[in-house]
Amino acid sequence: MASRETLLTTDVHEAAALIRRGELVAFPTETVYGLGADAFNPEAVRKIFEAKGRPLDNPLIVHIVHLDQLAHLVRDVPEAARRFMERFFPGPLTLVLPRHPDVPDEVTAGLPTVGVRMPRHPVAQAFLEACGTPVAAPSANRSGRPSPTRWEAVYADLNGRIACILQGDRSDMGLESTVVDCTGSEPVVLRAGAVPLEALREVVPETRLVGDEASLKARSPGTRYRHYAPKARVVLVDHPDEAVPDPRHAYIGLTPPAHPEAFGACCVCPDVETYAYELFDFFRRCDAQGCTRIYAQRVPRTGLGLALMDRLERAAS
Ligand code: TXA
Ligand code: MG
Repeated sequence: MASRETLLTTDVHEAAALIRRGELVAFPTETVYGLGADAFNPEAVRKIFEAKGRPLDNPLIVHIVHLDQLAHLVRDVPEAARRFMERFFPGPLTLVLPRHPDVPDEVTAGLPTVGVRMPRHPVAQAFLEACGTPVAAPSANRSGRPSPTRWEAVYADLNGRIACILQGDRSDMGLESTVVDCTGSEPVVLRAGAVPLEALREVVPETRLVGDEASLKARSPGTRYRHYAPKARVVLVDHPDEAVPDPRHAYIGLTPPAHPEAFGACCVCPDVETYAYELFDFFRRCDAQGCTRIYAQRVPRTGLGLALMDRLERAAS
């Protein structure tokens, strides 16, 4: 593993050259920063698990920039997936598809499927173009920590453990992609994310949310682990009146507390989109400040609220 300082660059060609040499590069996307390796280099992919401290049975998303890259990644593209691609590629959507035999087991954790995403972030696209190979990438955080929405957060978690950080702006969504399994009779959302369920249903009305825990664990291994958690204890509340004001406590939500100045950190968001954008960054700010407790206001589970509640509940669990 790299124990040198991690290279910081804004040069996509310099970053891509490292990918082609089998090194790890963190790069910006519109959802969160990813930690990339050449998807067809098993040794490079193994380094991702080592750098993150990620369990080996949690599969990675493969990032592409052209649809013709699917030829070596998937066996076929089911009709529902085709319709999702037309509507949401490039964008914050990951499709789980039947895996091509060329895809290394390291990427899919041995599953018969592979998750594929085409980001729409211009730096991600330029980087993937320069790599000239599909790039396997989980979020660029140490396992269990909040996903990084700024390169500085990647640096805080992974400096010295990865070859390079491709520096970009702050991620403009702040929540990960929606993961949809398209291998069954109807599409199943395995992880709520930046594309709302309602938007998927406009394209394929039969799309449903994954049901019982048993099938969830079997189909999306990642969702079984504790995730997105700051060091502080996260307490969910319906209203800020339930939050105990204290300089070591923090509050984030839509409704302003009566005395925001009584909290060590306070983030009042005008809408659910802003809440989602701020959440992981706020968690990391609270950690840096040494907050012991973060109160987070619940939101209705509609639109982006479904993904936001998923992340809040995981952080609080
Ligand atoms: O927005 C995102 O999705 C970011 C950016 C970097 O693309 N990536 C990301 O990756 O959040 P990660 O590894 O943190 O989360 C990927 C999720 C995990 O829950 C994993 O289990 C699931 O997708 N997944 C990946 N491949 C899968 C597959 N073949 N079958 C089922 N679930 C899969
Ligand atoms: Mg992650």
